[in-house]
Amino acid sequence: MEDLLSHELFGIKFKNPVWTASGTFSYGLEVAKLYDLSLLGAIVVKGLSLKPRKGNMPERIVETPAGMLNSIGLQNPGVEYFINETLPQLRQYDTRIFANVFGEDEEEYLAVAEKLDKADGVDGLELNVSCPNVKKGGIAFGNDPQVLYDLVYKIKKVTKKPLLVKLSPNVTNILDTADACVNAKADGLVLINTLLGVAIDVEKEKPILSTITGGLSGPAILPIAVRMIWQVYAKYGKKVPIIGVGGISNVQDALQHILAGACAIQVGTANFYDPYSPIKIIEGLKEHLKKKGYKHYSQLIGKAHQMTIKEV
Ligand code: SIN
Repeated sequence: MEDLLSHELFGIKFKNPVWTASGTFSYGLEVAKLYDLSLLGAIVVKGLSLKPRKGNMPERIVETPAGMLNSIGLQNPGVEYFINETLPQLRQYDTRIFANVFGEDEEEYLAVAEKLDKADGVDGLELNVSCPNVKKGGIAFGNDPQVLYDLVYKIKKVTKKPLLVKLSPNVTNILDTADACVNAKADGLVLINTLLGVAIDVEKEKPILSTITGGLSGPAILPIAVRMIWQVYAKYGKKVPIIGVGGISNVQDALQHILAGACAIQVGTANFYDPYSPIKIIEGLKEHLKKKGYKHYSQLIGKAHQMTIKEV
């Protein structure tokens, strides 16, 4: 059978380039009742901190035009619970597991990364320096290139596993933070996390979210994600693996990310209204490649950059 989608990244084999995004798929086990998780390229689990976190007070989610605002506040059961209770169940599935790593300060980030480095069955780490919904950590680390460089550099020293950095789009120039990660030897970049937004209840005449601001995701952010992938790929090409996330709900959206330069993609908010969307995207990619006569999806990575300026 033709193998259109399997590939290797960071020295690891993947069945296909379709992953599920952190925070939109929990720890995968609920969805295992709907389909075989082994069909997925990878699962990125919800952000993990050293100790359990209750997250923010309600309201924590609002639907917006073509999107969603969330302010969960990184609710999670803590890294040890994940390693001891959840990971053994997830390991039954033949897919790659990436753990999203969160800390309120540098010590916590390092402690979580060290524990996950030792955890058998975790294939790689996704550093969360872009959560906009917490008072300490998250975006505070991700928006200052020097602070980000120092953190990535130190985390690289405590893990041998691939380290991806999920960047915030809430910056003036995405290349400033992308450069910091590349210089600190991150293995790949995940572009993008959510955009800061506010939704107001016009009857109550106050913000809906308890934290006032939240992170915007969903189809509304697709062109922003594609633009940022475009900028980073234009600078680094295939030297820096880019995992695209942001606004992907169907195969056309996934193709936009890939043509802009992503070598794998994550499905996020779409999981909430169609948990089968990653599977439909895997099938849709195969059909698209066959229809167009491609031998492998990698032929499309960054292909849209081959135009000349005149064609724009
Ligand atoms: C949250 O838990 O508030 C969202 C996590 C994130 O945006 O990284």
